[in-house]
Amino acid sequence: MVFKGFFAVVVIALVASFAAVAFALDSMATARDDDKSDAAASTTVDHAAAESAVALPLESFAGTVPENADALAKQHRATDATLPPVQAGPVAKVHMTLKDMTVQIAPGVGYRTWAFDGHGAPGPIVHVRQGQTVRMTLTNGGAIPHSIDFHAARIAPNVAFRDVAPGESFTFKFKANDPGVFMYHCGTKPVLAHIANGMYGAIIVDSATPLPKADHEYVLVGGEFYLNGDGLKEPASFDMAKAHTQMPDWVTFNGYAGQYVSHPLTADRNDLVRLYVVAAGPSLDVDFHVVGTIFDTVYPFQDMNPAHSLHGVQTFPVPAGGGAVFELRIPNEGLYPFVSHSFASVDLGQVGLLKIGNPPGTMSH
Ligand code: CU
Ligand code: CU
Repeated sequence: MVFKGFFAVVVIALVASFAAVAFALDSMATARDDDKSDAAASTTVDHAAAESAVALPLESFAGTVPENADALAKQHRATDATLPPVQAGPVAKVHMTLKDMTVQIAPGVGYRTWAFDGHGAPGPIVHVRQGQTVRMTLTNGGAIPHSIDFHAARIAPNVAFRDVAPGESFTFKFKANDPGVFMYHCGTKPVLAHIANGMYGAIIVDSATPLPKADHEYVLVGGEFYLNGDGLKEPASFDMAKAHTQMPDWVTFNGYAGQYVSHPLTADRNDLVRLYVVAAGPSLDVDFHVVGTIFDTVYPFQDMNPAHSLHGVQTFPVPAGGGAVFELRIPNEGLYPFVSHSFASVDLGQVGLLKIGNPPGTMSH
């Protein structure tokens, strides 16, 4: 059971039956126990961390999807993972307007999220270069206070990362002196709830000494969701008890389970592909691995410093709150799954495909 989703992807890759790829949604569409008696006791929508008494067992909604999940997965517009260009000039202006909204986190699964910049997790990719000043404005269009904490900044958090009240805007600046791929997130208490509700993203600071030009650069932000319901008939909300026990219902790249299985990332044979991976958590690491190849280069400390790089790496862990950069070139056409090799995460949706060339049976892009 643990490996079901994974093997389905690999087998499908082997037979190149592209249309059938849906990260084994059918295997995930497990029959749910309709007895709600335990659910009431185990469910909490209270965001207060003080609510620490957990009634066990907790009810899992892992893999619970509607019957038409395959079709819904195909219809879903995948988050664009492409690294956007750097803004010109000495100052990079970033403005995010926060909104409370319902988004899909898996086929047919609705979730009430707190969204940086008016869409679901992750927030927009911020791409700057070393030495540029980042001028960040956060406008809080939500119902409760929020903030934004950039791991790329060296700045007093009580000043820059302060709470912004609903209806207000706050601007702060920092100089992006450290190159790398960093997490940003809301730092308002309880941080566990704010990150789990989708308030996270990636900031990439290009080194003043640029890396070799890549043919494709993609950003993958790992994150997990803890649900107080299945999210099918009505959207689910955050469950603090599950988050404390690190028992996610869904685990994603870029906020939607398996979205790059139905909408693969693409590259041509022998292209240099650079993947910027952030593990947003709130609590789980991403043990990043691409099935069928070996990373030529990993920048394990996220800093893109060639002196720190590793070569010939099978799997490398990205810690919650951290980032790493992965480079690969694949000579053979095919569908190459990328995963967190912590396999519970694969079964819960943290899997995608890198499509090299146009393998038989797949549509062209
Ligand atoms: Cu927040
Ligand atoms: Cu942090």
